[in-house]
Amino acid sequence: MYQSLLAELSEGIYTITINRPDKLNALNKQVFDDLDQAMDHVYANADIKSVIITGSGAKAFVAGADIAEFANFSKEQAAALSKRGQDVFFKIENAPKPVVAALNGFALGGGCELAMACHFRICSDNAKFGQPEVNLGLIPGYGATQRLTQLVGKGKSMELQMTAQLIDAQEAHRLNLVNHVTTPDMLMSKTRELLLQIQTKAPIAIAKLIQCINAESTNADGYTVEAAAFGECFQTEDMKEGTTAFLEKRKATFQGK
Ligand code: COA
Repeated sequence: MYQSLLAELSEGIYTITINRPDKLNALNKQVFDDLDQAMDHVYANADIKSVIITGSGAKAFVAGADIAEFANFSKEQAAALSKRGQDVFFKIENAPKPVVAALNGFALGGGCELAMACHFRICSDNAKFGQPEVNLGLIPGYGATQRLTQLVGKGKSMELQMTAQLIDAQEAHRLNLVNHVTTPDMLMSKTRELLLQIQTKAPIAIAKLIQCINAESTNADGYTVEAAAFGECFQTEDMKEGTTAFLEKRKATFQGK
């Protein structure tokens, strides 16, 4: 059904697993197309009562956008990529059924942004979080400038995104980025337990709750500003250096150009 995802429905819970473990489940065009289609299925299929999004393998939820895919993009292509990612993530955020991220390892860049687009997050104690885009001469393009700020507050969001620092599961819990920390073995059962509890509640009330809670934090203008700025990063020498250095497995040297 999907090229880059595994999907399974049991007890009303639709589990979507991003399945590119050799690339640490990095988000490429195919993953976005498949996630888009999977969310359409979630909206349309009455047998699906709730959703888990997770990553394949023991190491990563998602290690970010696929750097190899966008390294040579123009400003316009990059802004369009950002807009496409934001739109798929809005479809997740606005789903009328609970969507929970089960974070089984690295949730970096676009992976952290995907997790933040979900209604809430549960992680294993080996998970690591961060927005390392400035290491690539870039900014986040799939909502982190908005959602990380909403979740952890402006000062901490500024610090995390400016330093590109990775934080562990306990720190993510302390900052309210994740609701619960558990062991890798218990991650799926703990997530399922919470969703089965929610599934005993009135589905229309849950849908209305999602709509109302999302309304509190919607800032469409901020996302437009982010997509344009993400595109502008692609006109810089630093972005070329940052992505090339990653792909060549060396440290980047930035010139401010
Ligand atoms: N895009 C494309 N490929 C990626 C990727 C990404 N975001 N993250 C990891 N990969 C690939 C690596 O290139 C490598 O591929 P290869 O085996 O063909 O060389 C494979 O996944 C395994 O990653 P590797 O870097 O060897 O694993 P590691 O354990 O040494 O390091 C990370 C793990 C997560 C610290 C490191 O992969 C990393 O920094 N990833 C990029 C994170 C990032 O900047 N995300 C934001 C993107 S906008």
